[in-house]
Amino acid sequence: MEIPDIKWGELPFGYVQTDYNVRCTFKDGKWGEIEVSDSEYVPLHIASTCLHYGQESFEGLKAYRGVDGKVRVFRMEENAKRFIRSAEGISMQPLPVEKFCEMVRMVVKLNARFIPPYGTGASLYIRPFELGISPRVGVSPATEYMVIMLVSPVGPYFKTGFKPCKVCLSRDYDRVAPKGTGSIKIGGNYAASLVAGEKAHKLGYAVMLYMDPKEKKYLDECGAANFFGIKGDKYITPDSESILPSITNKSLRQLAEDMGMTVERRHVPYEELTEFEETGNCGTAAVISPIGEIHDLDNGNVFVYCKDGEPGPKSTKLYKKLIGIQYGEEKDEHGWCEILDVE
Ligand code: PLP
Ligand code: COI
Repeated sequence: MEIPDIKWGELPFGYVQTDYNVRCTFKDGKWGEIEVSDSEYVPLHIASTCLHYGQESFEGLKAYRGVDGKVRVFRMEENAKRFIRSAEGISMQPLPVEKFCEMVRMVVKLNARFIPPYGTGASLYIRPFELGISPRVGVSPATEYMVIMLVSPVGPYFKTGFKPCKVCLSRDYDRVAPKGTGSIKIGGNYAASLVAGEKAHKLGYAVMLYMDPKEKKYLDECGAANFFGIKGDKYITPDSESILPSITNKSLRQLAEDMGMTVERRHVPYEELTEFEETGNCGTAAVISPIGEIHDLDNGNVFVYCKDGEPGPKSTKLYKKLIGIQYGEEKDEHGWCEILDVE
């Protein structure tokens, strides 16, 4: 492929064709060798379980070109473990952690020229996904699976980047079922969120903030990201069985504690929206996206956070610390980054 003319600083969060993806197939009861492909397509049997019964899971993590020129991947073992939980949650064959990490290292190395330069604010998004590929007509799990990892250089998930965004809240939509698949990362959850997401976009909001699907009393997820609020020196984030355990949120909780804040992970009642000084959503794609306003579509309530249009001081401190570690500017005290052998 010719060297593409990429304006790194202007990249959206989107798909860019790169040189290679890596693949690994589970067949005859075992995972095979990792294969390198330059095709953007997957040959699939027309009766594959991934096509009919949603046997598909995915992950998202990033590689960063640091201030020292080195390439770091953030907490990939955590993604590997969640990938296993997702596979098990929809009766798919789990990929061993070491194989996951080996595939990540390989796909980044093979596409090294697509890792955005330091200082552009962009990074290389790594998207592992698993498919059930055996043909079935009755509803039952496949016996053969394929894991593919593709990469794409990306910019910020929300157009505003690290600037306050507007979010809407509605009780008319459930992201996932309480005892369903909300705490794992499977494609079906995202299909189910498209109508609510499109509604939010049409009304001019970045994303939909969901309420808990059981009682509609507690805050749940914020689109494809976790929600957090800051009250005094407390970092508060919802906990429920319908929330995906975010690796970014887990890291922010640790950083908040390191900064002397108290962390509370618990049910967060709607009424608490009036008490937060700062709110935000967080995730690999979103990093931290501060929330400036939350509009309740059901009763007209409006909650305003960033009155001066700027992110709050604690969110800013957490954001800087997190990206500082990822870009090699800050000491990686918790050993979250793996430096890859990439030029
Ligand atoms: N919540 C949902 C529904 C997500 O899709 C994601 C993205 O992966 C997150 C939260 C954030 O998780 P992480 O920080 O591990 O990327
Ligand atoms: C992520 O934060 O990695 C996500 O998966 C969010 C979205 C792109 C699905």
